Amino acid sequence: MGEIALNPRGAQVYDLLFPVVTREWAWRPRLISQLVAGLPVTTTAPSEAASSPVILDVGAGTGTQALAIAAAAPHARVVAVEPGTSVHAAHLKPNPHGVVWVRADAAALPFADGSADRIVISLALHHMSGEVRRSALREFRRVLAPDGRLHVVEFGRPTDPFMRVMSAVGRRLDDYDGMRDPYAGRIPALLHAAGFHVRPGRRRRTPGGVIEVTEAWPRE
Ligand SMILES: C[S@@+](CC[C@H](N)C(=O)[O-])C[C@H]1O[C@@H](n2cnc3c(N)ncnc32)[C@H](O)[C@@H]1O
Repeated sequence: MGEIALNPRGAQVYDLLFPVVTREWAWRPRLISQLVAGLPVTTTAPSEAASSPVILDVGAGTGTQALAIAAAAPHARVVAVEPGTSVHAAHLKPNPHGVVWVRADAAALPFADGSADRIVISLALHHMSGEVRRSALREFRRVLAPDGRLHVVEFGRPTDPFMRVMSAVGRRLDDYDGMRDPYAGRIPALLHAAGFHVRPGRRRRTPGGVIEVTEAWPRE
């Protein structure tokens, strides 16, 4: 459980398999549209504008998602946070919109209170122990601006017998203990306990299990 250590070759294999196992095309493009919708637009490059909206991609892995977010919101400052060595593979990728790579843990984010307009975390919460996951969600609440939005992509409760089988296999191959809460459908309750309003999104059946995209925003 915890950070994933990938060398550049491992990262290449991961980048080939991940879209298939998670049926990424069914949720990632829509997630990115939702994420950038309503962001303030500036005409200045993010490196020059102190007022550029800030998007954190936490548990960014090999950086595919952070790079796609930056392409969709070139006026934003996109920061990819990753504690593992996959960040080295991410560094090697073309980065035309200046994603900033930060090596840090979700449970101790090196950012000021209320400094992020958007936070996204995709399929990383199940790699954390229960305690780290709760700390990470509290950190998201602290770092998110009062009018900010958090988007969580995570495995969810299997919806039918076939998904129960696929989820059981996925759990064996992935982070068995870390998946306990996601598979029991407890992510919305954990978000609520960390101080968020929660809007559950569509659930999608994938070869790796049911994937849910949940939107959350700070409670006063
Ligand atoms: C399955 S990968 C997902 C990567 C990326 N979000 C994506 O969608 O392709 C999970 C990532 O979560 C990271 N991770 C694990 N524990 C973490 C923690 N405590 N804080 C931040 N990231 C963590 C792992 O190192 C790994 O890169």
